[in-house]
Amino acid sequence: MKDIFRVNRDPVPYKPIAYPSCIIPPVAVEEERTVSPIRQESETAKLRPTLLSEMIGQDRVRDNVSILIQAARAREEPLDHVLFYGPPGLGKTTMAHILCNEMGSNLKITSGPAIERAGDLAAILTNLQSIDVLFIDEIHRLGRAVEEILYPAMEEFALDLTIGKGPSARSIRLRLPRFTVVGATTRPALLTAPLRARFGAVHRLDFYDLPSMEAIVTRAGVILEVEIDPDGVEEIACRARGTPRVALRLLRRVRDYAQVRADGRITRPVAIEALALLDIDDLGLDDSDRRVLTTVIEKYDGGPVGLHTIAASLSEEPDTIMDVVEPYLLQLGFIDRTPQGRVATSLAYEHLGLEPPPSPQARLPEM
Ligand SMILES: Nc1ncnc2c1ncn2[C@@H]1O[C@H](COP(=O)(O)OP(=O)(O)OP(=O)(O)O)[C@@H](O)[C@H]1O
Ligand SMILES: [Mg+2]
Repeated sequence: MKDIFRVNRDPVPYKPIAYPSCIIPPVAVEEERTVSPIRQESETAKLRPTLLSEMIGQDRVRDNVSILIQAARAREEPLDHVLFYGPPGLGKTTMAHILCNEMGSNLKITSGPAIERAGDLAAILTNLQSIDVLFIDEIHRLGRAVEEILYPAMEEFALDLTIGKGPSARSIRLRLPRFTVVGATTRPALLTAPLRARFGAVHRLDFYDLPSMEAIVTRAGVILEVEIDPDGVEEIACRARGTPRVALRLLRRVRDYAQVRADGRITRPVAIEALALLDIDDLGLDDSDRRVLTTVIEKYDGGPVGLHTIAASLSEEPDTIMDVVEPYLLQLGFIDRTPQGRVATSLAYEHLGLEPPPSPQARLPEM
């Protein structure tokens, strides 16, 4: 399978350090590649914006990042460390690629769970070159021991290693080139305070508004060479949960439907029929969203009910519900998070065509 970007693989995956008791495993970077804006045929790659000017929406983040890049370029310095957080599919990884492209740097990609031991991170860090961007996805899943190595590396560009064991053990400090960490997480609350504090810029990516979603669908339609009416664009955009990844997925499915059941052109009726077949309602809720809502409402009287109980009732992972389903339901105001658990709001009842329960006051017996 072709890679997204042109790849310059280093024949030697890491520079071994000449300290015998420092064991550094060779493979810790999930993918190591030099990113150039030359894009290949894969649709996902073609659709991913590569420059800040191609990025749609997220105006505040874009403005801030643009200033960061221009200032760093003018001073001929590496970028400050940047953390992006927010629900899945909103553009955190895309932003990391954009930062790297705009700075003309190499992008090294890894993730929290991939760096199991401190030695793994040491191997990655000693292999970095000046102005390289190290993208750490799911950075909240880094272990404590790994974080301890990362702190001085981010702050002082130094790697502290302990050589030997027992009384003869000594500590040495290796200088590292100046590099940039770009972190991404869907769970900023799980990041330790010291790690968070080492990021010079922290940006939240939010759900996109309708005009931005329409622009994203239109841009994707042009790139994929799909004939699509403005009405068709609107129908897909407003059911894409304010999430570019969802919009691109829906566009591909509606394109398939248009090709097989219509003349290939995406009009509003074609989009409506295709999305109905996919069980996506007019607010973009799919079957799993509705199952969460109906579980809270029908099995637990509208709540409050704990996340783990909902997950167990649905045979789902609590993390999936929390990261994928819940953010959009919260955004729509369909559920509330209370200290006692999740509660379905009257908007949720209304959307599902159910009678909202009487208010707690009305339920009190008359005295
Ligand atoms: N602002 C944007 N304009 C156009 N397309 C976008 C934009 N943001 C994201 N996309 C598209 O949406 C898709 C998902 O984005 P991305 O992979 O960056 O999300 P993410 O936040 O990293 O998600 P996850 O948390 O699941 O890793 C990408 O393929 C990209 O093409
Ligand atoms: Mg990502």
